[in-house]
Amino acid sequence: PKPNFKVWNEDSSSNSLIFRLQKARQNYLKMNKYNVTFLGKKQSSKLHAEKLLCELKNKVNVTMLKRTEIPSDDSEWKEYLPVKSLGEEARQLGRCAVVSSAGSIKSSGLGSEIDSHDAVLRFNGAPTVGYHQDVGNKTTIRLINSQLVTLEEHQFLKNDLYNSGILVMWDPAPYHAEPSEWYRKPDYDFFGNYKIYRQKHPDQPFYILHPQAPWQIWDILQENTPENIQPNPPSSGMLGILLMMDLCDEVNVYEFIPSKRQTDICHYYQKFQDRACVMGAYHPLLFEKNLVKKISQGEDEHIYVKGRVTLPGFRKIHC
Ligand code: C5P
Repeated sequence: PKPNFKVWNEDSSSNSLIFRLQKARQNYLKMNKYNVTFLGKKQSSKLHAEKLLCELKNKVNVTMLKRTEIPSDDSEWKEYLPVKSLGEEARQLGRCAVVSSAGSIKSSGLGSEIDSHDAVLRFNGAPTVGYHQDVGNKTTIRLINSQLVTLEEHQFLKNDLYNSGILVMWDPAPYHAEPSEWYRKPDYDFFGNYKIYRQKHPDQPFYILHPQAPWQIWDILQENTPENIQPNPPSSGMLGILLMMDLCDEVNVYEFIPSKRQTDICHYYQKFQDRACVMGAYHPLLFEKNLVKKISQGEDEHIYVKGRVTLPGFRKIHC
C-alpha cells in the first residue's frame, strides 16, 4: 500500500492561522489600501483543477507594460522600456523551475534537479552563490518588487546579483487604476533607479509587469475562497508561477507548498524567522497556496519530500 503523505490542506482557512496572523488579515481587510471592490462572484461550489486552470488561462494576462500604454505627453521614461516582448525575448520554454525563497529549501539538495530545467525563475535578492547545492546556479528570469529597486538599503544598483538573466519588476497599483494613473503614483517611486539601471545595463532585458496582472490573479483567488482574502496583491511567488505558466510547457515549483522541511525561517539565505513568510500577513499567501495545491498535478510524495508541485503551461491546456 502507498503511504499517505501529510501535505498542505488545499481548503485551509484563516482559522488555522496563529492569532497574530489572523489579526493581521483582519487589519488589512479594514485598511483596504488599494481600494479593492470585488465585483466578481464567489464560486458556489468548488471548481476542479481543469476548470481552475482554464479560469487562470482565460482571465489572467501576465503581460509586461508596453511603451504604447504610457501617454506620450506625460513621460520620457517610456523610452527605457524594452521594445521586444517578453515572449520574444524568452522564446517558448520547455521545462521550467520556479524557486521560492523559503527557508525550507535549505538542505534539500535540489540544486542539480533545479538546474536541469530549461529555465529557472528566482525572486528578489535570492542568491545562488554559496547555496547552489540546494537551489542551483541557473537564473533565467528574476522577478523583483519595486521596493527592492527603490530603497537604498537593498543595494539594487550595487549588487551584481541582478546583472544576469531577464529582470521583471512589479509594483502594486490601486485595484481600479489604469496604467497612466498608476505611474503617476506608484507604491514605490522606482523610476529613478529603473532609469539609472537601464542606462548602466542597456542590453539586459528589464521588464515592468502590467499593473493590472496581479489583480486579475487576485480576483480568481477571491472567487475561489469562501472567506474574504487580504485586499492586497498576491506575493511575488504567485506572480512568478503564473509568469512561467505563460512561457513554459511545464512548471515545477519548489518549496512554495512546504515540504517536510517546513520552517518559520523566512528565507534560505537569512536567519530571520517569521511564520508570516510561509502563511502570509500582507499577501493572501495562504489562499495562493490553496489554489496552487488544487491545480497541482504531481504526487503528494513529491511535495512532502521535495516541496515540488508540477503545473502545466497554459499552452498545454485546452479549454
Ligand atoms: O520574500 P520573497 O517575496 O522574496 O520570496 C519570494 C516568494 O517565495 C514569496 O513571494 C512567497 O511566494 C514565497 N515564499 C514562501 N515561503 C517563504 C518565503 C517565501 O512561500 N518562507
